[in-house]
Amino acid sequence: MGSKKVNFVCQQCGYVSPRWIGKCPDCDSWGSFVEEVVKEAGIKNSGGLSVSSKPVGLCEIVVNQETRMLTCVSEVDRVLGGGIVPGSLVLVGGDPGIGKSTLLLQIGHNVAQKYGRVLYISGEESLAQIKLRAARLKIDAPDLFVLTETNLETVSSHIKEINPLLVFIDSIQTMYTADFPSAPGSVGQVRECAVSLMALAKQLNIPVFLAGHVTKDGSIAGPRVLEHLVDTVLYFESYKHQQYRILRSVKNRFGSTNEIGVFAMTGNGLEEVFNPSQLFLSERPLGVSGTSVVCSLEGTRPLLLEIQALVSSTPFGNPRRLCTGVDLNRALLMIAVLDKKVGLHLSGEDIYLNIAGGIKSSEPSLDLGICLALASAFKNKAIDPHTLIIGEVGLTGEVRGVADCQKRITEGEKLGFKRCILPRRSLDSLSNVKEVKIELVGIKKVEEAIHCLLNL
Ligand code: TYD
Ligand code: MG
Repeated sequence: MGSKKVNFVCQQCGYVSPRWIGKCPDCDSWGSFVEEVVKEAGIKNSGGLSVSSKPVGLCEIVVNQETRMLTCVSEVDRVLGGGIVPGSLVLVGGDPGIGKSTLLLQIGHNVAQKYGRVLYISGEESLAQIKLRAARLKIDAPDLFVLTETNLETVSSHIKEINPLLVFIDSIQTMYTADFPSAPGSVGQVRECAVSLMALAKQLNIPVFLAGHVTKDGSIAGPRVLEHLVDTVLYFESYKHQQYRILRSVKNRFGSTNEIGVFAMTGNGLEEVFNPSQLFLSERPLGVSGTSVVCSLEGTRPLLLEIQALVSSTPFGNPRRLCTGVDLNRALLMIAVLDKKVGLHLSGEDIYLNIAGGIKSSEPSLDLGICLALASAFKNKAIDPHTLIIGEVGLTGEVRGVADCQKRITEGEKLGFKRCILPRRSLDSLSNVKEVKIELVGIKKVEEAIHCLLNL
């Protein structure tokens, strides 16, 4: 038997080693190496982009404007940066059962109705199962074609034959290519299949959406390698098993990242949530201590969020600091600033911070809101519930300007806020202060904000 050369590949980061090792030197994960047969030389899919190999002057390249295809799901269009770019490869990652297949089928239906032929390829479900889901979603576009197949070569030939406008692969982990001698779902297979599909997408100028499962620790199963390869990476997430789903763009070659789309999973599929700020503030208790409302900018969209803080004296020597949604390091900085610069001694207190609704945000403009929620919880004094708090806090306790203040203020105004605490610098740079209907209070230091809102 001819001996095959094997390598060992880290499932987490794609690091390749000639022998098995317990700990990955690149990403520090343990026990993540799996065996992979080395592909022979003369590789077919070396880079995926062998479309043109002649240098062309940048000014000579002609690109048609307005070529993006709209999915008619406005949340998805926005997250993609204004629709689907022809020939792009989009990865939609998420936990099993989160609704990836549902979302793709709904997009497929819309595109098929508006533009024409769409091919949905499933390696996980039977035709009957897909039909049942479609019936539940009331999807019946005649131009939506379904194929159940896992062999990549067959898939490619069908794509070439049908020549659709859009292709879905559900999921990339179930696909395999006979070219590569390892099991479907392994790092090598997933990468090879993605590279082939990338080549196909660019060559035929057909956009391809790949659904990908996420492992327990949150990375796309198999490889982060995929993230480098594709044009756009969208994660589909839900929090605390709620019905709400968030589609987040973490990489986008054709639009801004950190853009989010909010959906609700209903009996008839995914419905868009057009006013997420209202949703995230809907259960906010009024007139209690330890909560503040901030405005985070997720991509291009302002989002009002409620920061909750709980401060209680620690029963043991070592106080606990627990954050959900808020960045822990950022929270520790704020606690230190309050201690040193404002004189609120939180060092002997257990501190819990949370963004209500299960949202995650690490935007610096949340800093001031975090400080005020902490101060309010510590002093047991409520902040006026109609006040919106915006501002980044520096280590000397200064409040620094934030980007796009106008958008944030308008969002607050829309949701009935009466007053907005914002950095003095941002206030000075606002152009149309006179048109703003809510009271604007510009401040320079955290202390001023605490004095203004809590009277301390
Ligand atoms: P699915 O799209 O199969 O998830 P994924 O492809 O990410 O694994 O979604 C399955 C879940 O969605 C399942 O728990 C049932 C639920 N669901 C609804 O609540 N309403 C619906 O209309 C549909 C189609 C699914
Ligand atoms: Mg699925």
